[in-house]
Amino acid sequence: MKLKLDRSLKTPLYLQIRDQIGQLILSQQLSPGYRLPPERKLAAQLGVNRTTIVNAYHELAADGLIQSHVGRGSMVCIHPTMNQDRIPIQPVSWQNYYSSQAERMHNPVLASILDEISEEDQISFALGAPAGEYYPLKELNEICKAMMHAGNWQAFAYGPTIGHLPLREYLADWLRLRGIKTQAQNILITSGSQQGLDLLTKIFLEPGDFIVMEEPSFLGAIGVFKTAGAHILTIPLDEEGIRTDILEQILSRRRPKFIYTLPTFQNPTGTTMSLARRHELLKLAYQFHVPIIEDDPYSELYYEQGPFPSLKSLDEHEHVIYLGTFSKMLLPGLRLGWCVAPTTVLEQLSLAKQHVDLHTSTTTQWIMTDFCNQGMLDQHLSLVRNQYKRQRDIMADTLTEFSPPGLSWVLPSGGYYLWCELPPGINATSLLRKAAEKKVSFVPGNAFHIHSGGKNLIRLCFCHHTEATIREGIYRLCTAISELLNQPSQGRPAHRHHYRETLV
Ligand SMILES: Cc1ncc(COP(=O)(O)O)c(C=O)c1O
Repeated sequence: MKLKLDRSLKTPLYLQIRDQIGQLILSQQLSPGYRLPPERKLAAQLGVNRTTIVNAYHELAADGLIQSHVGRGSMVCIHPTMNQDRIPIQPVSWQNYYSSQAERMHNPVLASILDEISEEDQISFALGAPAGEYYPLKELNEICKAMMHAGNWQAFAYGPTIGHLPLREYLADWLRLRGIKTQAQNILITSGSQQGLDLLTKIFLEPGDFIVMEEPSFLGAIGVFKTAGAHILTIPLDEEGIRTDILEQILSRRRPKFIYTLPTFQNPTGTTMSLARRHELLKLAYQFHVPIIEDDPYSELYYEQGPFPSLKSLDEHEHVIYLGTFSKMLLPGLRLGWCVAPTTVLEQLSLAKQHVDLHTSTTTQWIMTDFCNQGMLDQHLSLVRNQYKRQRDIMADTLTEFSPPGLSWVLPSGGYYLWCELPPGINATSLLRKAAEKKVSFVPGNAFHIHSGGKNLIRLCFCHHTEATIREGIYRLCTAISELLNQPSQGRPAHRHHYRETLV
């Protein structure tokens, strides 16, 4: 590849290099796959600075003519096609147009959990979803039929961004019964609580802001906060929830925008914050002027004593923003959640939501309003509390029956998940591969960590499948663990099969 630079021209050197290499590619003198000389080498050859070559290659990549990979150098891409006017049409290299925010979007775990649903024969303990068998389809069918019959066209029209008033009124009453002093005008209906998290992030976070969250924590929240470019300060959990002693040290040094917490039946650990810890957390929030985002999808699913008072219900000074959802207690497909916030925050959130989707589906809000007003939500909760408790116990009993020594888990007193520690030497990612051969899956613990932890932990959801399938899936999983343990160079057999008691 021969290039000639003319230093007497006004055209900068990097553009001369770009144009000459570009010409060689467009005239097909350089074929696809041709490896361009390393930047340093070409710089020496042409007697220019290395940055000149870096800039030239960058331009060529932006034009879609070359692709650069760290460690592999830069290669000529496919030849551009010519159109009728013999103008070369280059493929658009879309990545070069992405915003820095798009480049921070990276959550392959969540995407693969959702993709897996359609795979036949697969027993997924990964997906945190309610069992389809319990969806109240008959009742929903009656509601939809009645709605159509009555000619309620408004249920299919645009609606207010803040949400359908009768649904917000129902929720205000329902939350007041749970100690949360609120009213309809402080409730925003969201498209699932995932949207609530996204909207809160949009209105509060700039890249570089600090936030605090528990580690491990909900991977959907980690993804949103990382995409926003937040610096995440992590606080470990113990049996009583977030370690407020460590939080206090952090808050005395940093000023996070908010603390994100899951106090009840935490995802993924199942931990429930003690009452004393809830009060300590609120005290710290008041002392250091840090708002709290309380994410509470699971608190109605208690299998021993309950319900636990939410942080929001204990908050005397409007420091807590509260997220709720129908996804876990009823069904996720209607995509209905809500956010309770002080008036000014709610107005800002509504503005943000307007730009995202105008409002949550009117139709699903109308359906849910009728469902709730006919008393069916509370009926449904009684049903699923019984069923999920049985499923939790079946999963734990089957693990006791089949698990190889060294596996331990936490039996949660509510929620969706068993959080298991693998026998020493077994890595969750290797196990996932082995388990895939047996058509069973889970989420490896590292997905819930911001730092490098969780490699020997896995999360199993016991709500999504009914009893026989849970037994089959756990049998497959335990077989996969045993096979890994029996492989030479894999885990050291442990001598004790221990069982950690319920965390409350
Ligand atoms: C803690 C937590 N927050 C939010 C969500 C998102 O739920 P939704 O379906 O309401 O968007 C989940 C779902 O797994 C969750 O576990």
